[in-house]
Amino acid sequence: MEITAIYPGTFDPVTSGHLDIIDRAARLYSKVIVAVAVNSNKSPLFDVTQRVKLLEEVTDIFENVSIIGFDNLLVDCAKQQGASVILRGLRAISDFEYEFQLAGMNRRLSPGLETVFLTPAEQYEFISSSMIKEIARLGGDVSSFVPKIVQEHLIEKFNRG
Ligand code: COA
Repeated sequence: MEITAIYPGTFDPVTSGHLDIIDRAARLYSKVIVAVAVNSNKSPLFDVTQRVKLLEEVTDIFENVSIIGFDNLLVDCAKQQGASVILRGLRAISDFEYEFQLAGMNRRLSPGLETVFLTPAEQYEFISSSMIKEIARLGGDVSSFVPKIVQEHLIEKFNRG
């Protein structure tokens, strides 16, 4: 059976932890759509166009992965894209409460859409995009947490700022 999964997030910026989840998902589902939320609540460092572009570059090797930006309800976006699974990464117990609430809300909004959780490899369990940005802003080395191209963009952003 062909199953399309949608993997939503802010991806500001995409990290090696996100990529690890995408890699696992690409082997499980016929099609994986990475959906980049405009998410004005978080005042992102990279605008949605840049976040989409970075994701496109780092997922270039996966034939069944595509990237979109979205600014509507996730369940509506999933429907438009023909996805029957919402994919989320679970890193630590602290993620659980929020993820449980999100999955519950999405189920109320769209009962047929299932949320599936994947866990990243151990070395990525503690990565978060905000920490990466803080480390990069303070001149630290983020090379083991993000793809090279993301590291270059972070350096460029903070050198200019
Ligand atoms: N590796 C590394 N970091 C990871 C990760 C992984 N595998 N999985 C999650 N993270 C980090 C992210 O980097 C992010 O870190 P930050 O908060 O420091 O930036 C954090 O975990 C959570 O971010 P993310 O997974 O991107 O989720 P989010 O909370 O930013 O996104 C949406 C939430 C976009 C899915 C949600 O707001 C949404 O669906 N919005 C659309 C509108 C909508 O439908 N709203 C109603 C929902 S009921």
